[in-house]
Amino acid sequence: MNNSSYQEWRNAKLKSYPQSVDELFVEIAGLVDLSVTEIAAIKANCRRSNMAIYKCRDDFVDRAAVCAFASNFGLLRLDHHLCANEDGVSELSVASRGIRTGYVPYSSRSLSWHTDGYYNDPSRQVRAVVLHCANSSATGGENALLDPEIAYIRLRDENPGFITALEHPECMTIPANSGTQGEIRPAVCGPVFSRDLRSGALHMRFSARKKNIQWRDDEITSAARDFLSEILADENGMVFRYRLQAGEGLISNNVLHNRTAFEDGPGHGRLIYRARFYDRIHSTS
Ligand SMILES: [Fe+2]
Repeated sequence: MNNSSYQEWRNAKLKSYPQSVDELFVEIAGLVDLSVTEIAAIKANCRRSNMAIYKCRDDFVDRAAVCAFASNFGLLRLDHHLCANEDGVSELSVASRGIRTGYVPYSSRSLSWHTDGYYNDPSRQVRAVVLHCANSSATGGENALLDPEIAYIRLRDENPGFITALEHPECMTIPANSGTQGEIRPAVCGPVFSRDLRSGALHMRFSARKKNIQWRDDEITSAARDFLSEILADENGMVFRYRLQAGEGLISNNVLHNRTAFEDGPGHGRLIYRARFYDRIHSTS
């Protein structure tokens, strides 16, 4: 994006960006049979910040309802993740047995900043995610959220060279994932920031994990990463924090997020349905 179109886009984005997490909320009657007004309100929030938090009055929601909800936004092509159910929707809860015990999302531990599917190859890029909270934990489990377009703006305003470094096709490599049976997934190498060729929409692929990530070894990439860490840690910045309650959910164009550690208790076994899509939310780019 050349500088004059960037400035125009940047100014419009910052002007309409929500000032607090409350501006992300949309009340809905149920996940199935959304009204035209509810759909429009969710899309409007997603246009401003690439995300919306819905609060659903219907207390029965299953995995099929999550997919029905997502289809209203053009989210149809599910990423069938290793630990997902057959329908492609994962149930994030504390796993006590099976393959899921090897992965932090299925534990009560904290999760560092990332976008989903950063280890997917470009043909399986995760462009949108729905997280629906079916049951909340007793304590903890708060998410921090940041629109990748805001991260892009802050990096570019600081030093346009940071963007060049983060757009490099060899910027971030995730080594192969090997299980006891052999290789589960080959190494994946790619940029942090990329743009969809047709729509021009920005995509961000990122993980703050220290282990199992290989970064391009040069000064500017390292400085860009340090600056990004500052943006994500900035208490006065544009990061939203929210703890989803039962019946609430987040729909987003795969925004940056993390999760605090949590504790389950009687009647409070945290359960999140997670659906990841190759599609982007309609009419947000
Ligand atoms: Fe995630």
